[in-house]
Amino acid sequence: MMKQKFISVLILLLFCFAAGAQNRLTIDATQKGPQISKYLYGHFAEHLGRCIYDGIWVGPDSPIPNINGYRKDVLEALKALNMPVLRWPGGCFADTYHWKDGIGPKDKRPKIKNVFWGGTVEDNSFGTHEFLNLCEMLGCDAYISANVGSGTVQEMVDWIEYMISDDDIEMANLRRQNGREKPWKVRFIGIGNESWGCGGNMTPEYYSDLLRQYSGYVWEYAHEKMTRVGCGSNGEDYNWTKVLMQNAARNMDALSLHYYTIAGPGWGNKTAATGFGEDLYFSGLKKGLRMEELVTTHSLLMDQYDPRKRVGLYVDEWGIWTDVEPGTNPGHLFQQNSMRDALIASTTLDIFNRHAERVKMANIAQTINVLQAMVLTRGDKIVLTPTYHVFNMYKVHGDATLMPSSLVSEKYTVGNESIPALSQTVSLDANGKMHLTLSNLNPGKEIRLTVEVIGKTVSKVNSATCLTAPQFNSVNTFDKPETVKPAVFKAYKLLSGNQMEITLPSRSVLALELE
Ligand code: AHR
Repeated sequence: MMKQKFISVLILLLFCFAAGAQNRLTIDATQKGPQISKYLYGHFAEHLGRCIYDGIWVGPDSPIPNINGYRKDVLEALKALNMPVLRWPGGCFADTYHWKDGIGPKDKRPKIKNVFWGGTVEDNSFGTHEFLNLCEMLGCDAYISANVGSGTVQEMVDWIEYMISDDDIEMANLRRQNGREKPWKVRFIGIGNESWGCGGNMTPEYYSDLLRQYSGYVWEYAHEKMTRVGCGSNGEDYNWTKVLMQNAARNMDALSLHYYTIAGPGWGNKTAATGFGEDLYFSGLKKGLRMEELVTTHSLLMDQYDPRKRVGLYVDEWGIWTDVEPGTNPGHLFQQNSMRDALIASTTLDIFNRHAERVKMANIAQTINVLQAMVLTRGDKIVLTPTYHVFNMYKVHGDATLMPSSLVSEKYTVGNESIPALSQTVSLDANGKMHLTLSNLNPGKEIRLTVEVIGKTVSKVNSATCLTAPQFNSVNTFDKPETVKPAVFKAYKLLSGNQMEITLPSRSVLALELE
């Protein structure tokens, strides 16, 4: 009996291989997964290099077209992404930032040295008002990173009152005096950033005590209006998560995690963002995929102390970190962005989507001109990066319901190392439309995929878009801004009722809307 069963399975497998059907996505439409938080598609803007100044803010007197000092072109590009949340003012900068430097008349604002990022002089012309007004213009939530490393509880509490209080009290009145009558909405507050490193070199035990102290005051002054984010681990520092959850799970609503992809061997071996070969293409993707292991392990640890998953895991800094572009300030982290980086973005977002039960926010670093940016600027020109296009294609998953699915994928192998060639997310939005995003990581091979939907008939493909590029290391430049851009995709066939076949071009990201 057993032997017969084995032979039938073998025959089925052989048949599948012969038919080229080893790549198979099965979607179970009879079940519902968790909601994919829209905040997984969040962003991060630090006072670093040309992210804020030049990138977002040029000031009202600039010859570059602007609305009250904000670049018009950048605003338009960011609006199209439906950004759900923007984290500010850092990063490492946050733990050196004293918010009162950035309010009131601009000519009275003190100049400070940005010690972490190239020693650049920061004139504080972009401060609390400029940031929170930007969030209102973009229609996104504000995520403030409070200074624990070199600040005080009182300073944080004053900032909270300044931003969100409508009472007749000193800080709210100071805000009114500075031209803003009504409070802003500030939904998220980070209590320190990288407190294990640039935010104060603390041990997890010491930091968890500070977190209990600071978050108690956030609670008193903001109640449930603000989600309190504890500073989480550096990559695989699982002990940090353990100690934080043990000592302070009740004192936070979320715990962060930072992980950057460094394509070269080991930590710190950054490599060029352009002109790389297949070895660094592959190792960049492989290291990006480590996010799966990190998110799984941190989630498991959190489950032990918080089985109901009240505390969200916020990956509030992630992305690829390469060498800076030649001739630019090494402290300004201005890097190019290639088709490889688009695939790092799509596969990482797939990982977050699949872990939507615990991962409730993620913020790619950083929005403009820094690290894995959405937009690059030069003078009055902008370039939308390949990563921008991925975010635009993936935004449909935000607040949709994850559909349970299982993917059988062939491998993409370089030397003696392999990774799955395919990656995917399937979600169902509030209007009953199914969204399928797929990536083919193999740079030299198109892949045929059979998709089967259990419990639902797919009658129509409403739209299909493909992002690919002439080479795996292709980039968009100021002279050729559209080398990597999405195009209409047609290489799919609806088969009988609940099946379809999709041929994914090599090195591509696809987005399909089905009903
Ligand atoms: O995003 C750049 C830097 O990376 C941030 O300032 C810091 O938090 C991290 O180390």
